[in-house]
Amino acid sequence: ASTTGKVSSVFRTGLFNGKVAIVTGGGTGIGRAITQELLFLGCKVIIASRNEQRLASAANVIRNQIPRDSPAEIADIQCNIRKEEQVQRLISDTIKKFGKIDFLVNNGGGQFPGPASSFSLKGWNAVIETNLTGTFLCCREVYNQWMGEHGGVIINIVADFWKGFPGMSHTGAARSAVDNLTKSLSIEWANSGVRVNAVAPGTVYSETAAANYSDKGLFSRAIPSIPAKRLGTPAEISAAVCFLLSPAAAFISGETLKVDGAASLYSTAGWEIPDHKNIPAYDWETDEDERKPKPKL
Ligand code: ADE
Repeated sequence: ASTTGKVSSVFRTGLFNGKVAIVTGGGTGIGRAITQELLFLGCKVIIASRNEQRLASAANVIRNQIPRDSPAEIADIQCNIRKEEQVQRLISDTIKKFGKIDFLVNNGGGQFPGPASSFSLKGWNAVIETNLTGTFLCCREVYNQWMGEHGGVIINIVADFWKGFPGMSHTGAARSAVDNLTKSLSIEWANSGVRVNAVAPGTVYSETAAANYSDKGLFSRAIPSIPAKRLGTPAEISAAVCFLLSPAAAFISGETLKVDGAASLYSTAGWEIPDHKNIPAYDWETDEDERKPKPKL
């Protein structure tokens, strides 16, 4: 699958025939690639997002890519994942429309760049509510309304937060929390036949992401610190999601799969630290505790 141009998949045709998925944020960027690949593989997909018009027009474009003889279908349901009643309605309307829910892909989210010291409480709360609370609400509702009785697979899309997330600390905190939530739910819901995994994309270029960040050099500056020496594509995240949704991942649960070209092993998070002497050293010479050895410098 790709955001623009021809949609395809390495997975076998018909792999997800008869399956039903919800993809939050499914109309744009990575979510759109996931939606396109699921449809290509025969899945029925509900895309959900806050902006009704943008969502509906995305659904119309994507619908035209479905091959004629395919059982795949796409529908859109407007939903602000921060709102409990809207999430409850998203799940119940999906069951009404397609009769069941096999897959939930929690991809909807968002953040804005800036140093933590500049974040207002409102801005902080918005990012936590969208990325953490929204994902929790979608998980809880899909479990309580469907998967608790029937099983299913949940994928949470997180981020490359492994060394902190300087410059977007709010989303780092929220995504790291979703990583932990993924682990908790994989255990709590195992006996219902529910697998819960996460996918952690590195730097992925999409038109949506580019439009979201006014700093246009953000993407090209990232390339030197990615061992693959290129950015990731939405289709590469989608492929990992399809694998984890598929029976090939039947024994994988509670896992977070990094799809980052080894960037998280190689680099810091691209945060310049000026030379400074502002972290005072422990002062051994004036230590009054004689039991402590004095260092030989
Ligand atoms: N994508 C980004 N923010 C969202 C929200 N609040 N609800 C649904 N999708 C979103």
